[in-house]
Amino acid sequence: MANIVIVGTQWGDEGKGKIVDMLAERADIVVRFQGGNNAGHTMVVGGEQLISHLIPSGILQGKICMIGNGVVVDPEVLIGELDKIADRGIEIGPERLRISERAHLIMPYHRQIDHEREKHKGERKIGTTGRGIGPAYEDKATRRGIRFVDLLDADVFAQRLEAILDEKNFYLERYFGAAPLASGPIREAYTAFAQRLAPHVTNVSRELADALAAGRQVLLEGAQGTHLDIDHGTYPFVTSSNTVAGNACAGAGIGPRDITGVLGIVKAYTTRVGAGPFVCELTDEIGRRLQATGAEFGATTGRPRRCGWLDAVLLRNSRRLNGLTGLAITKLDVLTGIEPLKICTAYRHGEEIIEDFPADLNRQARCTPVYETLPGWNEDISAARRLEDLPPATRAYIDRIAELSGVPVQIVSVGPGRDQTIVVSHPFA
Ligand code: GDP
Ligand code: IMO
Ligand code: MG
Repeated sequence: MANIVIVGTQWGDEGKGKIVDMLAERADIVVRFQGGNNAGHTMVVGGEQLISHLIPSGILQGKICMIGNGVVVDPEVLIGELDKIADRGIEIGPERLRISERAHLIMPYHRQIDHEREKHKGERKIGTTGRGIGPAYEDKATRRGIRFVDLLDADVFAQRLEAILDEKNFYLERYFGAAPLASGPIREAYTAFAQRLAPHVTNVSRELADALAAGRQVLLEGAQGTHLDIDHGTYPFVTSSNTVAGNACAGAGIGPRDITGVLGIVKAYTTRVGAGPFVCELTDEIGRRLQATGAEFGATTGRPRRCGWLDAVLLRNSRRLNGLTGLAITKLDVLTGIEPLKICTAYRHGEEIIEDFPADLNRQARCTPVYETLPGWNEDISAARRLEDLPPATRAYIDRIAELSGVPVQIVSVGPGRDQTIVVSHPFA
């Protein structure tokens, strides 16, 4: 029996959705444990694409999907996703999608505050996805959040909404000069959401415990990436939750001893959406080429992703923070035809060589990459299904990633399709 946590090792968009979808074949349950619809996870099956923001990426494999207590849920977005999937002929009944009664709701004022704050910050903005993620986690931490269990009791919901809206409107009107929100339309909309979602709401922790006791295999699907973690990332240019593997337990309601492996997803180069330090960023022709060939535009907001060479400093940091047991390298096909390739092995700060990721933002900003150069390849690798199908230079690049990170490579992805994958050693084997 194996229960695997999947995490992004960089700044998100590493291809977690593809790998979770592919691995879900051998899992019984797929659980999201943090983040919200700031995530955009892409699955491509039979040439058809599905981008999921809240529903775990096990949905196309017909597995039980769970949204854990650690996720912040915009119910309107979730219902929109259910409808979109139903349009494709896949009905998701309550038995297929379970939602934690303890998960917090994203409310309209969260979205509005997110927008107003970013507008107010101007040049200094974080570049959030504008989905209300930060303000929702903020209310959770200050004990003013509204959970699914509160939504299901109309009286409790109305009381909590009334109490909190008063304060939010004061802030929106007096600080930002924005229009206040009326409680009536919110109550009405959320009553309809409650009716629609009530059959899915449950004690996810309890259901997971029962499933684990029965020997079921669980995939825990992380969102964002290690360097967007609120504690360990490039603060303040981060998201508002812990994205590291340790949070899979808290955010799903299981114990650490239930986890048997942690698979880190690493894109063969680096990307970042939104503001914040990015030591290996390329603003030259190669950066533009990676963006174009890799179709590096956000799956949630459509913003162009900043691109750069692979950064082994990020990878080593990820290994330590997540306790990685394996790596999945994605988008290797995008590097085809680039000669030579570079990997950043350390940072230079003045006269000093730094091997660990600095916490100080100003120090990060003054770092420059130390690169090593590797030969590229020109062969189309997208049809490769075994390591032996790859050119020697591609294999050398993979081996170097394993060496520099100290983590074995379990999966190599050579295209967006579910089948465009080389399995070196299966995490569920
Ligand atoms: P996630 O947020 O980590 O799930 O990643 P996204 O879905 O936001 O972004 C990854 C993008 O790369 C998606 O468009 C995927 O379809 C695509 N993708 C995933 N793996 C590969 C790969 O090996 N090669 C190529 N060319 N595209 C890939
Ligand atoms: P997936 O799961 C890439 C980034 C935003 C912004 C910062 C804070 O698809 O990998 P937020 O809306 O969370 O308050 O924004 O975090 N960000 C992501 N970047 N992939 C994601 O998710 C992201 N989720 C948030 O661009 O810089
Ligand atoms: Mg994404």
